[in-house]
Amino acid sequence: MRTDRVRAAERERVAQQTLPPGAYDFYAAGSGEEVSADEAASAWRTYRLLPRILRDVSHVDTSVELLGASLASPVLAAPSAFHLMAHPEGEVATAKGVAEAGSLMIVSSRGTRRIEDVAAAIGLAPWWYQVYVLRDRDHTVRQVERAVAAGAQALVLTVDAPYVAVKPRVRLPLPLPADDELAWSVGLDGRTADREQDPSLGPDAIAWLRRVSGLPVLVKGVLRADDARACVDAGAAGLVVSNHGGRQLDRTVSTARALPAVADAVGEAVPILVDGGIHTGTDVLTALALGARAVLVGRPVLWALAAGGADGVRELFDGYRAELTEAMALAGAPAVADLDRGLVADEVGVAGPGRPASPRPVREAGG
Ligand code: FNR
Repeated sequence: MRTDRVRAAERERVAQQTLPPGAYDFYAAGSGEEVSADEAASAWRTYRLLPRILRDVSHVDTSVELLGASLASPVLAAPSAFHLMAHPEGEVATAKGVAEAGSLMIVSSRGTRRIEDVAAAIGLAPWWYQVYVLRDRDHTVRQVERAVAAGAQALVLTVDAPYVAVKPRVRLPLPLPADDELAWSVGLDGRTADREQDPSLGPDAIAWLRRVSGLPVLVKGVLRADDARACVDAGAAGLVVSNHGGRQLDRTVSTARALPAVADAVGEAVPILVDGGIHTGTDVLTALALGARAVLVGRPVLWALAAGGADGVRELFDGYRAELTEAMALAGAPAVADLDRGLVADEVGVAGPGRPASPRPVREAGG
């Protein structure tokens, strides 16, 4: 299964027909007027590329090393909540598909299967655990301890949600099965206040989580260069440039446009990841050329899960990899280290349609 735009739209259409309407709307929704959710994908398409010629691209290698994990391709599964609404096996099916494709799943702390069962489905492949720090810190510590015991290799601290934004499309209650442990983990048991995110969180949460877990902590939800530097100073092991798929503050800058400034601010200090509207291999290539080490995909995984279960998820990631391989070959970049700013026209002073030309330093990586 390829992932290009037409097929991405087709996958969403099939999922929409398969899913209960309440589940589809929950997954698809953005906050506010859905401006950020709507423009995420088109923002990647505003960049224009300057491919290199006469490079030996007879072998193209999409593999990457990320915080000690060896991955077949730089496309990861973003953390997303409540997979049980998309498939009867929920996160367990997602985990199988992602692991079979040689990719990495960031398991959401708003998951709907026991973390131990998800870890068992992943087997020996690496996975990371996404964390919200809740008002009830003891609950957060217990969640993290379970994830560590189950084998998580890093934590991803999501910081763009001090409060959960209103999504006008979402109608409660969600079509989720009644289950004691599930209710406890997602705050559906009426005891919601202390299960909400702690809105007083500051940068010291990064070192706190590292201490509690002994794991590297990435910070997800960065859009600004100054915040990026502050997170690195506070001990972040990596950053995810994200606006939560347009589900928190609406009308934030697109991640496609936020990424270059964050990459410039951080340099090689820690790996930068990015998500939001990444639907094709050429989107992935553009993100890597602009300074990301890897990308995350959110809704496409949910659509693939709904339509095809674990097999659908594996095919989705295989599709991204096939498209990235083709895009890299045609751009004259046999390895991901060859993807640099020099490939992006408006980043090197040749005007693209996205914005006026503004010369930027070109980071030469691998010639
Ligand atoms: C999310 N996202 C998210 N992020 C997070 O850190 N923890 C979570 O539990 C969730 N849950 C969640 C549910 C649903 C239904 C969606 C669509 C998204 C945000 C997610 O990790 C990611 O940032 C975006 O989904 C990326 O945008 P795309 O790929 O969906 O366009």
